[in-house]
Amino acid sequence: MSYRTHHCGELRRKDVGTTVKLAGWIQKGRNLGGLTFVDLRDRYGITQLVFNMDTNPTLCEKARALGREFVVMAVGKVAERSNKNPDRPTGDIEIEVENLTVLNKSAVPPFTIEDETDGGEELRMKYRYLDLRRDPIQKNMLFRSKLALETRKYLDSVGFAEIETPFLIKSTPEGARDFVVPSRMNAGEFYALPQSPQTFKQLLMVSGLDRYFQIVKCFRDEDLRADRQPEFTQIDCEMAFVDREEVLNTFEDLTKHLFKATLDVDLADFPRMDYQEAVEKYGSDKPDLRFDLQIKPLNELVKNKGFVVFDKAEYVGGICVPAQAENWSNKDMKKLTEWVQRPQIGAAGLVYSKFQQDGSIKSTVSKFFTDDAQSEWLNHFGGEKGDVLLILAGKKDKTLKQLGELRLEMGRRLELMDSSEFKPLWVVDFPLLEWDDETERFYAMHHPFTAPTEEDREKMNYTDREVLKNLRANAYDLVINGAEIGGGSIRIHDRQLQQQNFKLLGFTDEEAESQFGFLMGAFEYGAPPHGGIAFGFDRLCAVMNHQNSIRDFIAFPKNNMGRDLMIDAPAPVDKEQLNELRLKLIPKKD
Ligand code: AMO
Repeated sequence: MSYRTHHCGELRRKDVGTTVKLAGWIQKGRNLGGLTFVDLRDRYGITQLVFNMDTNPTLCEKARALGREFVVMAVGKVAERSNKNPDRPTGDIEIEVENLTVLNKSAVPPFTIEDETDGGEELRMKYRYLDLRRDPIQKNMLFRSKLALETRKYLDSVGFAEIETPFLIKSTPEGARDFVVPSRMNAGEFYALPQSPQTFKQLLMVSGLDRYFQIVKCFRDEDLRADRQPEFTQIDCEMAFVDREEVLNTFEDLTKHLFKATLDVDLADFPRMDYQEAVEKYGSDKPDLRFDLQIKPLNELVKNKGFVVFDKAEYVGGICVPAQAENWSNKDMKKLTEWVQRPQIGAAGLVYSKFQQDGSIKSTVSKFFTDDAQSEWLNHFGGEKGDVLLILAGKKDKTLKQLGELRLEMGRRLELMDSSEFKPLWVVDFPLLEWDDETERFYAMHHPFTAPTEEDREKMNYTDREVLKNLRANAYDLVINGAEIGGGSIRIHDRQLQQQNFKLLGFTDEEAESQFGFLMGAFEYGAPPHGGIAFGFDRLCAVMNHQNSIRDFIAFPKNNMGRDLMIDAPAPVDKEQLNELRLKLIPKKD
């Protein structure tokens, strides 16, 4: 027995007169006295079924008894609808049902299975299998499937081999926290789930596999946000005998192919920007280039004029917001000041100058700066009457970051980001090392296997902290619309240099050997120059669909506490299981 001859998105006017069999879920029913209409849904669409009380009252009664989400099979004839629905591909036809079989009943779903559901986030997560019945989420899953397929097709066409690497590996202290897995056969010892296949893909290059890729799960025990999940997927890649240029070109071409094949969007060549330039102009290493509103420094114009806040500050800078002087009231400015003072942003205060159309200036610093002085600032920004200068002052790094947040907030409030646009760019020349005041040591900005630029290699021998802070890495990020989509680097392939890098990161030789001896050992057996990149696959899906949250592109995601609400994980394990693993729980202190 076959359940169906067609699916629910398939039938058109040309099929009128044919007898068909459909199977699917009841979306909803409408009872209009003599006629009863039922929408039947499957992955492919919705088809209207019609039942006639006059010609077949028994069948019509049966149709009226159907509940939402019942699973049915219907046999009938395709007929042209008198009342057509132009919003639906099958809207010209309906099925005059002759036979109806209920394949399974359904309890009343906890939320409506419709594009705009009444279900809250928690409920949708708990009943994810029902949420996944909704068309927008199904579309996301199908998009993801197509994107993975196109990735494989493209990478295969340029010689990449898909190779799996292990999930049970060794914990290392670098990067985010690891998820650890106790070993029964080696009691007291633990595996870690990989944060990425980084060292394995480098070893595959040592093995001569030349071009590797993998669409692979990665695991990181870190604080979660809309664009972060504890388990997520990367398109992970590595190439031997390449320089930065070849890596960037290969993955720019992959990105262009993916946009064309899935969205029919032609992307222009990606601009490149130095990390330093990104931070100074956009206050971020992942600038959203869909709008301008660049940050400019004001130190030269405002220092030593008697305003202590500016005089004390290492850095004074601002953005020029167009055409809002007349729109923003004092109350709005107060609210904006409070916004920059929120702990998430952390600015001490906000200085502003509103350049009114009548030539007057309303400013928080009129006592210290003449109108002429402030007009000079406006000229510095290339602004005009009607604009508002928003100015922050403080430590340079922090202030630039705050200005970056303020810029984004203005972009959102004034709707400056075109939601149909894509603005990719490569950010290059990241610092190699990041100093942490708290632990008093350097951390690798990308990861410890990243090579310095050729020019800076020799400076790795220096001990001066300021010199080391300015070392540049041969590392790059792919950014699209302000989201970090991918990151990678040219790697160190020489034992000495790798050892030296570990030293800069505060490892003793013994620590480096015990944690990464396998990699440094491999470098002694003819390691080729190599480099690569990993794209965040979930993020790429979300950004390509102009969405912020990656959850809707993951079939079974976790919530902000890292919980799977559907299977209720994580969960305690049996005492016997703990005993077998020789683990003992420390009771929680309340
Ligand atoms: P990196 O740590 O930059 O590099 O990760 C690469 C990309 O993965 C995505 N990503 C995430 N997506 C969702 N949830 C998360 N928790 C999460 N963390 C990262 C981002 C990021 O750009 N081994 C290196 C790559 C390399 O050097 O080749 C690595 O993992 O989009």
